Amino acid sequence: MRPLGVAVIGTGFMGKCHAMAWSHVVPVFGVETEIRLETLCDTNEAVTRQKAQEGGFARAETDWTKLLDDPRLDIVSITTPNNLHRDMAIAFLEAGKHVWCEKPMALTIEDAEAMAKTAATARVKTLLGYNYIRNPALAHAKKIIQEGALGRIIHFRGQVDEDYQADENVPWSWRSRLETGGLGVLGDLTCHLVSFAHYLVGDVAQVCADIDTVHRMRLVPGSSEKRAVENEDIAHAMVRFESGATGVLMASRAAHGRKNMIRTEVHGTKGMIAFDQERMNELQLYLADDPPERRGFKTILTGSRHPPYGAFTPAPGHQLGFNELKVIECKHFVDCIESGDEPYVNFAEGLKIEKIIHGIATSAASRSWLDVR
Ligand SMILES: NC(=O)c1ccc[n+]([C@@H]2O[C@H](COP(=O)([O-])OP(=O)(O)OC[C@H]3O[C@@H](n4cnc5c(N)ncnc54)[C@H](O)[C@@H]3O)[C@@H](O)[C@H]2O)c1
Repeated sequence: MRPLGVAVIGTGFMGKCHAMAWSHVVPVFGVETEIRLETLCDTNEAVTRQKAQEGGFARAETDWTKLLDDPRLDIVSITTPNNLHRDMAIAFLEAGKHVWCEKPMALTIEDAEAMAKTAATARVKTLLGYNYIRNPALAHAKKIIQEGALGRIIHFRGQVDEDYQADENVPWSWRSRLETGGLGVLGDLTCHLVSFAHYLVGDVAQVCADIDTVHRMRLVPGSSEKRAVENEDIAHAMVRFESGATGVLMASRAAHGRKNMIRTEVHGTKGMIAFDQERMNELQLYLADDPPERRGFKTILTGSRHPPYGAFTPAPGHQLGFNELKVIECKHFVDCIESGDEPYVNFAEGLKIEKIIHGIATSAASRSWLDVR
């Protein structure tokens, strides 16, 4: 098979995660395709050059537009702040490169729609960074649901909480500003929760929501000036799925003590499944058909019977971590590029998630139910 040349744009938290995924996908999965780490791109030349060398990239670049016409590149990972996703993704799609872009898609619905429109006519693939749904535990939960073990799915409960904005002294940053960060907790965390809901239950059709900004002013780093936080710290919504099931979505970036809680429950007429990302190798399963004296939640600890766990280690219970989810996501993208199948979550599916998170903000402002289809 023809080798695939890769560029990663951004060398921060997610840039490193993508770079590791690209270098691990072949050793972990034995992918037949040769992956060539061609270019690492960020704005600081010295840092980018050093990280390119450490990560095994052939070259470093500071101007992303120089990558557009590079024939050595087939795929681009976009891991820059949200305000850059739209322009970068559209330019690379138009240049005929496959695009793996971090979530959220963009700052506004209009931008996300423009990205999905370009992707629809491009002859290349798109994927968004909804890594949490790559978890073998989640794949197993979906299998249990699809096999009917929980009966008819009647309710979804989701809570996503972190505490990175809980302290009022956390400085003002690009994340606090509509022009650079877009939505607050909705764009940062709720979108992941919606990816769980869509993956496990199906599309959300309607929302009725409330949002709040807890710390309205924050100090500008290195000065005594305070600036307004323009987006929400907390958001919660009642939802209705296309299927008729009901649900609740809750999110906070100001929840002291929570580091990466993504707690989800799928309730059925015959049982319930619960999962929490802070205990990402476990599922809790309750089956109402068990004999009454033995009913109770049981813990399923993931292992090689829960693919693709076994690609990483043959030993059950030894546990996967956050970065491994990105390797699984990377494998999915390579498989789709080779087979021609549509990746999940591609830009069209991602636009549905954007409509829900922006719908939650709109519903909160209008204090009413909103159709988000
Ligand atoms: N999927 C997930 O679980 C997850 C987790 C965290 C962040 N994210 C998303 O990833 C994206 C990046 O977040 P992060 O936490 O990695 O941010 P970060 O600040 O750690 O990294 C962003 C990088 O982009 C670089 N950059 C900025 N402008 C650039 C330009 N014009 N050209 C090249 N590089 C440029 C910055 O210098 C920085 O190195 C965001 O969209 C965020 O929402 C996703």
